[in-house]
Amino acid sequence: MTGTRPLVLGIETSCDDTAVALVDKDGTVVSACLASQAALHSTYGGVYPELASRAHIDKILPTVQTVMGDAGVSPPDLRAIGVTRGPGLIGSLMVGLNTACGLGHGWGVPVVGVNHLRGHLRSADLEERRVSYPAMVLLVSGGHTLLARMTGPGEISLVGATLDDSVGEAYDKVARMLGLGYPGGPAIDKLAFTGSPSVHFPRPLLGRGLDFSFSGLKSAVERYLAATPGIPPADVAASFVAACLEVLLSKCRDALRQFPAASLVVVGGVAASPQLRAAAKELCEDLGVELCLPPLRWSTDNGAMIGLATWDYLALGISHPLEPVTTLSMEDF
Ligand code: KG4
Ligand code: ZN
Repeated sequence: MTGTRPLVLGIETSCDDTAVALVDKDGTVVSACLASQAALHSTYGGVYPELASRAHIDKILPTVQTVMGDAGVSPPDLRAIGVTRGPGLIGSLMVGLNTACGLGHGWGVPVVGVNHLRGHLRSADLEERRVSYPAMVLLVSGGHTLLARMTGPGEISLVGATLDDSVGEAYDKVARMLGLGYPGGPAIDKLAFTGSPSVHFPRPLLGRGLDFSFSGLKSAVERYLAATPGIPPADVAASFVAACLEVLLSKCRDALRQFPAASLVVVGGVAASPQLRAAAKELCEDLGVELCLPPLRWSTDNGAMIGLATWDYLALGISHPLEPVTTLSMEDF
């Protein structure tokens, strides 16, 4: 493999997945490996930060070795190592950053610090070019919910964001209330299919700008459950999902009206939801806009999206101190 084409080694450790991938400039994923910590954290109903850091330490080098070995790639094939510098859990970020810096130093390969959110925003172009520009992107993850306009691969401006919780966090918290375990998103989504959306939960900030708010909705579900023992959990899940989807899709519609675009791109962990995917498809058909979705594997956290975003940083000549940043907005690059 040595010398055929330059590759970026993408390393992602911002939360509870140790993920590494080799990606070329066009977004072709040459090799990828992910060590999930979901089982480790499920006992706690959420991510236990200290355990996450320790698990990253155990997994990071074997994961890098697997990815490099599977592809038959050696350090001279690398154009750069791209690593998430934030936002995320400080200890988890430090494991990825220290590993990347150590490998970069030893191998003589440059290291680029990547904004995790930029990774998600680029994930729809992994494996094949899907995004038509200008694009409106809805990013829905465990840590973030935002709308961004993209006029080109690295050209991104924020147009709306959550004022409090992310939608993924609301999914996870409601799942915990219903005793569905962690991560809750997939479980809520599955249960919602079997229920009826008979409860009308609030639709926060609906029709009021492009920002989001999910903490009130989460509390409304909590109060409803306390006041209504015996309500079928599937109906609560279906009603909660209906409220989330109405808000998300109506904000997309408003954003596309304000900023006409060729495509709507939906990325981030919650974009793995079949219900959200179906609702986005319906909206795009109605508006005559192309819908671009990353394959399921690249919707949740992964190393490939960090690798692809690294190519943007290289092209734009942007570099940052290789230090962890727990809160990093979209606009902090
Ligand atoms: O992007 P991601 O992997 O990590 C962050 O950057 O936060 O997103 C994780 C979030 C979690 O809240 C998880 O419950 C949610 O994505 N999620 C889903 C699904 N798969 C993951 N939510 C709804 N339906 C799914 N199928
Ligand atoms: Zn993420």
